[in-house]
Amino acid sequence: MQFSDLIDTKKQGKALSEAQIHFWIEGYVKGWIPDYQVSALCMAIYFQGMNKQEIAWLCEAMLYSGEVMDLTEIAGKKADKHSTGGVGDKTSLALAPMVAACGGKIAKMSGRGLGHTGGTLDKAEAISGFQVSLGKERFIQQVNAIGLALIGQSKHFVPADQLLYALRDVSGTVDSLPLIATSIMSKKLAAGADTILLDVKYGSGAFMHTPKQAKELAMVMIELGKHFGKDTRAMITDMNQPLGNAIGNALEVKEAIATLQGHGPKDFVELCLCAGSIMLVQSELAKDRTQARAMLQDSITSGKALAKLKALCEWQGGDVKQIADPSLLPQAEYVIPILAKQEGYVSMLHALRLGQLAMRLGAGRNTKEDRIDSAVGIVLHKKAGSQVHIGESLAYVHTNRPLEDAWLHDFYEAYEFRKEKPTISPLIYEIIE
Ligand code: URA
Repeated sequence: MQFSDLIDTKKQGKALSEAQIHFWIEGYVKGWIPDYQVSALCMAIYFQGMNKQEIAWLCEAMLYSGEVMDLTEIAGKKADKHSTGGVGDKTSLALAPMVAACGGKIAKMSGRGLGHTGGTLDKAEAISGFQVSLGKERFIQQVNAIGLALIGQSKHFVPADQLLYALRDVSGTVDSLPLIATSIMSKKLAAGADTILLDVKYGSGAFMHTPKQAKELAMVMIELGKHFGKDTRAMITDMNQPLGNAIGNALEVKEAIATLQGHGPKDFVELCLCAGSIMLVQSELAKDRTQARAMLQDSITSGKALAKLKALCEWQGGDVKQIADPSLLPQAEYVIPILAKQEGYVSMLHALRLGQLAMRLGAGRNTKEDRIDSAVGIVLHKKAGSQVHIGESLAYVHTNRPLEDAWLHDFYEAYEFRKEKPTISPLIYEIIE
């Protein structure tokens, strides 16, 4: 079989066979097929799509490209959650400890930053020493001991996604429904949890632009999950503006800690409570979402959720002192306020542009080899719906280099104002159970 035939087949809009998909994944993982050919195929898939059968074969080939966790040694239902990616989306860092504090067992396989969106692994690694690669035994031992563990794809677990994810990130092939669905579901299935909650985002800062596209992606992933016998549910949520106020790795860790201390931003807290309540029902730890919400709120007020984050950090080699005192997390050299030059209500805050601006500060990667600067990012003071007066602070920029005029110009372009108070679309658009 020639790999160039696969590229031609897809370029012409035809379906790949099961044998071709296996040849691709095996050859890429074993290093026989070079990046440039795989990126050409991903681009062809981006334009031509894949049918349901091809998606199922690709997901299966990726899933079995490495080891699959058997979590039967962990008692109770094991829960996992995944977001399709957004700006300021630090949900897992607060949500996983909250659910674990309520008795949930979180066996989580996460990803790194992708395009303009951040990734849980990069955020966790902003904590000095935090290790995201754990062996199978250690992963199971940790979930048994503290109720949660967080790992990444590796050469052992879903190596196909590790390679494809990094390649897609720098080849303009992230926002493709079949590639997103198979990337997420191969990881979720390999991590071995019994229940999966998908947070499928739509809007300017998400890979899916409309609720309809997000729902289409959600349905494909739910079908994949169910095919493998998993209780798979989804939330469709708004990502037209960033989630919470912080964008950037260490800044997002700080916001997750603040949330577990009881003073998180309203939208972020709401997302964690909604996702957590679905997960607790899936885990059969609450009879309904109302009861689950009360349990999650209590995990914050009692300090149990914060204690879980500390335990997670301790077990994975992170510096727990940074959780107790977030000022010890990486700090940027300059913190620059950006003042409003216009007044009115913020009618739109473009998440995509803010994600790209954070990347330009060094918070994300442009090439596979780029190193992330954990300290840099943006903390928003005004979001969609906020009233703004001239001279008020719109945001603080945390940077290790002086800000260029072009950066500042683009920052102002991320805000749109109008005189009347705008109607803001709801954060949670739909829950598919
Ligand atoms: N998250 C993933 O794990 N993969 C994608 O392709 C997009 C978001």
